Amino acid sequence: MLYLKIIAISCCVVLWNSAVRPTAASVDLDVHPEHLPYILFSEDRNSTHCWGYESNCDTQHRYSDPVCPGPDNGWAPSKQAQIGIFYDQGDFGYVRQQREEITYMCEPTDQDDSSLECTNHLKFCRGRNIMINFTNTLNKNRPVRYQMDVLNEGQIGGKCKFHKEKLDAQCDHLSPLQSWSPELRFFIPINHYPGKCDLIITEPTVIMKIDATVNMYHHFCDFLNLYASQHMNNSGSNMFSKDIHVLIWESLAYESAFSETFEAFTIYPVWNLNTFRGQVVCFNNIVLPLLPRMIFGLYYNTPLIDGCEKSGLFKAFSQHVLYRLNIHQTPDINKKIRITFLSRNTKYRNVLNENELIAALSNEPNYEVKKVIYSSKYLTFKEQIRITYNTDIFIGMHGAGLTHLLFLPDWAVLFELYNCEDEHCYKDLARLRGVKYITWRDMNKLKMEDKGNHPDQGAHAKFTNYSFDKSEFLDLVKEGAKHVQNQKYGYSPETHNEL
Ligand SMILES: *[C@@H]1O[C@H](CO)[C@@H](O)[C@H](O)[C@H]1NC(C)=O
Ligand SMILES: *[C@@H]1O[C@H](CO)[C@@H](O)[C@H](O)[C@H]1NC(C)=O
Ligand SMILES: *[C@@H]1O[C@H](CO)[C@@H](O)[C@H](O)[C@H]1NC(C)=O
Ligand SMILES: *[C@@H]1O[C@H](CO)[C@@H](O)[C@H](O)[C@H]1NC(C)=O
Repeated sequence: MLYLKIIAISCCVVLWNSAVRPTAASVDLDVHPEHLPYILFSEDRNSTHCWGYESNCDTQHRYSDPVCPGPDNGWAPSKQAQIGIFYDQGDFGYVRQQREEITYMCEPTDQDDSSLECTNHLKFCRGRNIMINFTNTLNKNRPVRYQMDVLNEGQIGGKCKFHKEKLDAQCDHLSPLQSWSPELRFFIPINHYPGKCDLIITEPTVIMKIDATVNMYHHFCDFLNLYASQHMNNSGSNMFSKDIHVLIWESLAYESAFSETFEAFTIYPVWNLNTFRGQVVCFNNIVLPLLPRMIFGLYYNTPLIDGCEKSGLFKAFSQHVLYRLNIHQTPDINKKIRITFLSRNTKYRNVLNENELIAALSNEPNYEVKKVIYSSKYLTFKEQIRITYNTDIFIGMHGAGLTHLLFLPDWAVLFELYNCEDEHCYKDLARLRGVKYITWRDMNKLKMEDKGNHPDQGAHAKFTNYSFDKSEFLDLVKEGAKHVQNQKYGYSPETHNEL
């Protein structure tokens, strides 16, 4: 017998499709107020604001304003070209390029048909009326994560005109976190929709293949790509609707110290493959988002032109998450430079003399210093980013905790005490976010506890502890403080010598 269950019918789509469009003033899209005119662009002909990827978006009015104060080191023929390259690599230009690639892999011929559209290499797809057969999950005795055999031939499909050769030609990034080809290579056209589905999901559903959830750098790469994918799919004023489901393509229950971040994207608990164990499910609307390990993706291993900074995409992401998680800045009454020193409570890369360094900072009358351990043992993730968002200079050793830089204010400074020979990771992320980056320069003024011992790869700078020269440290912080004074209050300390 055919058992058809419909999970909750979405209300909001009906609202937004109604003939009378609400005006900006009466809309509560629960988004950062600065984003509102950009979101309404597609529906308000008089709005000049645009994100930057829309076909009729004027460069002057786009959301982003990346700058390239540094040299391009031979990457670009002119300043303007340099900015353009950065925009395409790490800003909404990346979204624009990806959107331009979207093409039908399975084309509807009737109004109620299915459809499947994807970019090159199947890095992003969206579909309507797609059947997914989860029968295989019944027979897996090992937990499913980063695997390519969740589906077999014919276990995903839709009722539409299928361009098989076109799709096959894009299955060349066949790797779990690089593309959707491990799943879509099995796509087939079907005769009936919903046909033999056990379940129909009416709310839009984002299926995510995620990176390591224990590591903030990697997991935020998932969140950034989720956000970018909402831009890819831009569905007008409900583009950031939280009435969407998230299905994580793993059989393990989702758990992460950063899980609160999902509250910015969905009102529902996240699903995993076990939610649909053994069932055939019809999704009326799916998005297969950009992935965390794409070749030339964001932001893991992204090639980024020298000299440029301030990606609007990263700023918008930061604002969006902070706004949705209800994180605010507290008024700073005493105008002191607020310094947060991230202390690691781990086996490697501890700062052996951190108490000495922190004491030295605390002696400066213009600094307000806080030492923090960002662990869910002591602080919820929201409490952590609240502290970060109220920081002017964020100091810490190389490590995933520095990903907090995404939530620093625009005028802030990231001081990566020492990059442990991994030069680009946080420097580039800081550039993308548009905060100033400082790191240790004089290798004669730091001490490694030993040569560093990777459990199986021998000596490596990441696997030991360090101590730093106090006065060199103070000088570098002072350099950061000057930047904050300048950016935040619009004056340089040369004319105000309280620093
Ligand atoms: C757009 O601008 C025109 C001319 O300024 C004005 O007549 C019209 O009412 C505006 N439309 C909206 C939707 O604001
Ligand atoms: C789902 O897959 C199983 C195993 O391949 C198959 O026996 C079953 O017929 C499929 N169901 C549908 C509705 O396609
Ligand atoms: C994607 O866009 C479609 C319309 O183009 C919309 O109906 C759907 O809700 C969007 N999906 C998500 C997950 O936002
Ligand atoms: C680094 O510091 C940690 C914490 O104090 C300690 O457990 C570890 O043994 C130290 N590592 C080295 C290489 O000395």
